Amino acid sequence: MTLQAAEKGVSANDFRIEQLKALPARYYIDDDVLAREKELLFFRSWQYACHASELDSPGAYVTTDILGQNVFVVRDTDGEINAFYNVCPHRGHKLLEGKGSKRVIVCPYHQWSYTLDGKLRSNRTTSTSQSPEASRICLHPLRVDRLLDFIFVNLDAAAEPIAQYWPGLEQQLLAAIPEVTNYRLSEQVSALHPVDLQANWKIHIDNFLECYHCRNGHDSFCDMLDVPNQKQTLHKNYSYVFIPSSGKADNKAYPLNPEFDDMDLHFWHLFPNIGLAQFAGPGNLSISQWLPLGPDRAQRKIAQLDVAEPTDPGMPQRREQRTVWARDVLQPEDIGFIESAHEGMSQRCFEHGWYMIDPENEEISEVMLRHFHQTYLAQLGEAEID
Ligand code: FES
Ligand SMILES: [Fe+2]
Repeated sequence: MTLQAAEKGVSANDFRIEQLKALPARYYIDDDVLAREKELLFFRSWQYACHASELDSPGAYVTTDILGQNVFVVRDTDGEINAFYNVCPHRGHKLLEGKGSKRVIVCPYHQWSYTLDGKLRSNRTTSTSQSPEASRICLHPLRVDRLLDFIFVNLDAAAEPIAQYWPGLEQQLLAAIPEVTNYRLSEQVSALHPVDLQANWKIHIDNFLECYHCRNGHDSFCDMLDVPNQKQTLHKNYSYVFIPSSGKADNKAYPLNPEFDDMDLHFWHLFPNIGLAQFAGPGNLSISQWLPLGPDRAQRKIAQLDVAEPTDPGMPQRREQRTVWARDVLQPEDIGFIESAHEGMSQRCFEHGWYMIDPENEEISEVMLRHFHQTYLAQLGEAEID
């Protein structure tokens, strides 16, 4: 469904007041809601694990955790990428730490060992390992899938594949950023992640999904981009916004070179908690993952892809200037809004907010934010906002 199909031709005044009432505040502050989100969203959705280049040879692995569930992805000897819970079936010890490479996975506790496709290789007792029971012992597998070279895992064995869960997304990414398959994982954003903030994870995403605050909050961003002429589209479990360039190579954000740089901006939100962003400048695509640390705290993890080779002598400097701007200007501008909004949601007077819906003015319209909330309620199995 596109914004145009869904809402063009309808004036803001035609929306019923119920459709303008935003997600009730209790969804942002209650412990019970977070417990439901864990089970119904985070443990049933595609969560970013790593980039395929981090699993460049057999035995290469990366560990991560999804709200306390320890997992790892590993490339096996056939070149396949597998995902498992990072837990030994013998008595639960964690198998792997960090990232690295192993020919065989050996548990540090009693030295049971496993092949890279999760089978028990040895438990040090010949008689036991030959028993029929031993052949049933293996690592607990997880679903694994990919979007471009981003590797995702899903704790739900019945989850739809990514191509069905986010239909058309990979094609949309390739059309927007044709060079993306040549980009490489950057070391440069290590300064940016992870970022802990005092706010519910959904407030971060709400903020990511509307540019209503941009004119007031992001002066340099609005100088670099033609914010009023952005185009938003809504899709099953994701949304996409394209903001064209203002045409200013010299702008208040950071310098651009129209001969070599992508001058526009593309943002995607993938339900529930993933953001993809291509900023203006030397080719790039970042992936952000917002994870709750509690109802009122969240962590944003970021990884970024960059063009593999400099396109011109000035490119490394322009890229650095963009990173510094994102870290020192854009991010602090948003953090202030996000943390204050969370504090407001916890005030006793605040039952719910309001959506700004204006189909004629995509600069200020919060349709992507509302789309996120509608998807959220549907996946929690809850009624729409009344
Ligand atoms: S817990 Fe892993 S070998 Fe005992
Ligand atoms: Fe912002």
